[in-house]
Amino acid sequence: MQNILVTGGAGYIGSHTLVELIESGYDVVVVDNLSNSSKESIKRVEEITGYSIKFYENDIADMVAMDKIFKENNIDAVIHFAGLKAVGESVEKPLEYYKNNISGTLNMCEVMRNNNVKNIIFSSSATVYGDPVEVPITEQTPKGICTNPYGWTKSMLEQMLTDIQKADNEWNVILLRYFNPIGAHKSGRIGEDPNGIPNNLMPYITKVATGQLERLNIFGDDYPTPDGTGVRDYIHVVDLAKGHVLSVKKLIENPGTKVYNLGTGKGYSVLEVVNNFIEASGVDVPYVIAPRRAGDIAECYADASLAKKELGWEAKFGIKEMCADSWNWQKNNPSGY
Ligand code: NAD
Ligand code: UD1
Repeated sequence: MQNILVTGGAGYIGSHTLVELIESGYDVVVVDNLSNSSKESIKRVEEITGYSIKFYENDIADMVAMDKIFKENNIDAVIHFAGLKAVGESVEKPLEYYKNNISGTLNMCEVMRNNNVKNIIFSSSATVYGDPVEVPITEQTPKGICTNPYGWTKSMLEQMLTDIQKADNEWNVILLRYFNPIGAHKSGRIGEDPNGIPNNLMPYITKVATGQLERLNIFGDDYPTPDGTGVRDYIHVVDLAKGHVLSVKKLIENPGTKVYNLGTGKGYSVLEVVNNFIEASGVDVPYVIAPRRAGDIAECYADASLAKKELGWEAKFGIKEMCADSWNWQKNNPSGY
């Protein structure tokens, strides 16, 4: 398990995972169509690690190009980040989302099978739990009704990959359900670089802090949570990246299909995040209370004990470091890459 193909490796989580893989001694090959990223992130990973990355600018749905990648490289496993991820956009463009995420993944799996590469680690999301029936959420907590096509692509792909492994036990499928990744690499050279006005909380906060946006809208303060604002399990992207390295190690055991929650186990409210950010950065973040956002839930945080037990993985960074590192990235790269 030495040579890892990272799909979507130019993106936010992919680029951080490349650093951790390379620093753990793995060889990496990247395929990304750059639909939501820039090649600059790959250059910066090279700069951080001193490693020269083999990069293919291709779509994962392109079976001819993908076949060539597998033929040219002796790939042992795929970490599959490539996909569209904007919740709101997925409601506007369901066809594009289902096509890109589902057809793309299925095409790639067919090429993997043709090349006898049957190890895959898939980026799933806590969104598959819908409005969770319990918190903390364990892997046994039933999956729920997703509120948008993006979420359904994750839920459906989990099922498809599970079925593929069930029919052919040469496959190993690790489904990683991420909670809310934020933060950035300590160097401040790589980080999250959303297009346009951010939808997610932390990139919005950092843009208010730089003055690019006037104020944060806090979506609802009447949830049944301690301060009325929504509670989420924020996880440092570097911790998340390390979870992928340990998942690669797990593949050696031929585990079949495995599902792991990757979160810290601790929830923070929107107001707590804002206050931690202000403390960590020393910069004010003006906000107003706005109406609830459609599709939002009150609380979501993980029970991440299974990943600890079976992967030896545990989140190390706390909310202060997440805020400080998000800010370090944004202030050094106010316009992203
Ligand atoms: P990102 O958009 O930064 O990275 C995804 C990358 O995939 C981009 O570089 C994009 O150009 C590429 N891509 C998209 N479609 C492609 C295709 N058809 N062929 C080749 N490349 C393609 O997103 P991210 O935040 O790094 O997320 C990575 C993965 O993790 C995604 O699958 C996402 O859905 C999932 N995820 C993200 C979060 C989060 O909050 N960031 C939470 C849960 C799950
Ligand atoms: C969102 C997606 C989820 C996806 C995840 C990671 C929705 C409904 N859910 O999760 O499917 O997996 O991102 O990409 O979009 N908030 C504000 N003001 C803002 C932005 C956010 O108050 O400007 C609040 C939200 O109401 C929520 C919390 O901050 O309580 C976190 O929001 P966000 O970062 O968008 O993540 P999720 O909603 O958890």
